[in-house]
Amino acid sequence: MPALTWTPVEGIAPITDRVRKVTGRPFGANLVLEFPIEEKLDTCLEHGVPIISTYWGDPTSCTARIHAAGAVHLHVVGSPDEARRAADAGVDAVVAQGWEAGGHVRGSTATLPLVPAVVDAVSPLPVVAAGGIADGRGLAAVRMLGAQAAWMGTRFLTATEARTHDSYRRRVIDAGVEEAHTRGASTAAGPAHRTAPCATAR
Ligand SMILES: Cc1cc2nc3c(=O)[nH]c(=O)nc-3n(C[C@H](O)[C@H](O)[C@H](O)COP(=O)(O)O)c2cc1C
Repeated sequence: MPALTWTPVEGIAPITDRVRKVTGRPFGANLVLEFPIEEKLDTCLEHGVPIISTYWGDPTSCTARIHAAGAVHLHVVGSPDEARRAADAGVDAVVAQGWEAGGHVRGSTATLPLVPAVVDAVSPLPVVAAGGIADGRGLAAVRMLGAQAAWMGTRFLTATEARTHDSYRRRVIDAGVEEAHTRGASTAAGPAHRTAPCATAR
């Protein structure tokens, strides 16, 4: 699922073409709604991206367009209330992102309590669990909580296929379970940003 929020519009087609070369399976594009993504969303849909995931904002304005293009809309939420609003907007599934998630963090609740609360809030809408899942044990755990699938980020930073800088990759592999939670990479009012302890976080 390429994150295309910061990709120039003309850079989108080369990325989707490259994804199609390596897989015939469905794939998605991610757009953060806090940024101007209108043209990027249209470009993704024109190029037949079958799944659009959105984050950090109100998905209402996108859902009809995504459905009109025949694509599936997932929206990332951090609370049951936000999940209900996304369900009312007509999204096809919600991603319940717990506090443990790497990168920007939507809410303040951990994955373990968040996932069943979101499942109860939007059932029978499918829920994908995100945050702190890195292997089959985590996948099994969130399936038991009622999620249909797991969504992983940090784990894939260590994949050889990822364009992660070597020192960053090493830092992630060597990281313990104690991680920093900081607002350093966000606006003061924006969501927290979860990262390993480092000089920037401090
Ligand atoms: C380096 C990094 C960048 C991320 N960028 C985005 C992004 O652009 N859009 C988004 O919706 N989520 C983004 N995320 C969050 C992931 O989609 C996902 O919620 C999170 O990685 C799941 O938790 P995990 O890292 O513990 O697997 C990012 C995560 C990481 C680690």
